[in-house]
Amino acid sequence: MNDKAAAPRRTAKLATPTSLGKDARRDISGALNALLADFFALYLKTKNFHWHVSGPHFRDYHLLMDDQATQIYGITDAIAERVRKTGNTTLRSIGDIARHQTIKDNDQPFVSAADMLSELRDDNLRLVESFRRVKELAEEAKDNATSGIVDEWTDQAEERAWFLFEASRKA
Ligand SMILES: [Fe+2]
Repeated sequence: MNDKAAAPRRTAKLATPTSLGKDARRDISGALNALLADFFALYLKTKNFHWHVSGPHFRDYHLLMDDQATQIYGITDAIAERVRKTGNTTLRSIGDIARHQTIKDNDQPFVSAADMLSELRDDNLRLVESFRRVKELAEEAKDNATSGIVDEWTDQAEERAWFLFEASRKA
């Protein structure tokens, strides 16, 4: 059997049993995998800014961004495992992240501290939008666990956006 023909059989081995319908499984995993890619993209951007931030508030911002990056990274495993628990497969590589992410990378050689704060704030609020979509799909499918776990992620993203907003105030 050639490699192409063998692929569906190998994937079938990873089909975790689930009581969710086929459409729900596809929709929820699609939304969760996009979310996971965005978490990795935002994790790396937050670390990028942590490494490259400069200016009079260096220490505050450097530490704030590190705390946030740690929190973002800490959620990635739970997202990926929700995909596996609901009968699907998840991301496998940096390339896979790049193909799924909706949050844009920032490869600029210099970004001002103020621009870093506002970009991260907007990206975190974008995550909140994605959570709404995931929750809607999960509730439609009666996937209570996904619907419930998204609430905590939402609260944390809103908190990150709040901290970034307050830290960016001029006075
Ligand atoms: Fe560090």
